[in-house]
Amino acid sequence: MIEPAAGLAAPVITVDGPSGTGKGTIAGRLAQLLGWHVLDTGALYRCVGLAAVRRGLDLDDGDALGALAQALHIRFDGERVLLDDLDVSTDIRTAAAAEHASRVAAQPAVRQALWRLQREAVRPPGLIADGRDMGTVVFPEAALKLYLDASPEVRADRRYKQLKDKGMDANLHSLAQELAERDRRDRERAASPLAPADDAVIIDTSALDIDAVLACVVDAVRRRLPQALQASSGVQSGA
Ligand code: DC
Repeated sequence: MIEPAAGLAAPVITVDGPSGTGKGTIAGRLAQLLGWHVLDTGALYRCVGLAAVRRGLDLDDGDALGALAQALHIRFDGERVLLDDLDVSTDIRTAAAAEHASRVAAQPAVRQALWRLQREAVRPPGLIADGRDMGTVVFPEAALKLYLDASPEVRADRRYKQLKDKGMDANLHSLAQELAERDRRDRERAASPLAPADDAVIIDTSALDIDAVLACVVDAVRRRLPQALQASSGVQSGA
């Protein structure tokens, strides 16, 4: 068993970075490899954005959005995301939902409400937390912090293929523009802006496929948190 940091129920590995860097895929693959849990924090912000729009709230009204974020009941059931017991797994993945998520995420009251939820998600044997401020704000004591990056062109192209693969409508040019605007908002906001933690391992994924990124990540785990790999059956069986 790996000793968790004080105040945490289990060790945490954070995976931060802008969209289109493969964070979600890497977090999922690493969780599978280590036998740990995974938390997609972007889905939480997407749920708040979706609920706000459905209730007709002003996306700049911090107080109302903060109260909403506190009252919502968000649950993960395997691949499914349930918002107040309704399956919103598809609804939160549209380009509009991404835009709404980024807007509500700029509100400190929303971030505060979700901070608690994210801390409560930590469970043994460990948690891989994927987001924007996991290593800087939510889990500053994380055992390992990863920050994935890639050029804007590569990220837009990946997002485009991801949406197409899911059978969703997408236009590369407008996707690139939306991504640039969302990145600007996520990086420039006053509350918990997107940034690597001082002690993060930064991986530029522009020229790497997902297996190569995973190899870099496993290498970082081996150097910083070797016990996690030793404890996992996946590594023992050579996976
Ligand atoms: O990772 P994603 O694309 O699902 O995130 C959607 C938006 O949510 C993103 O534009 C910024 C916001 N977000 C955030 O501010 N903090 C997080 N920890 C996760 C997501």
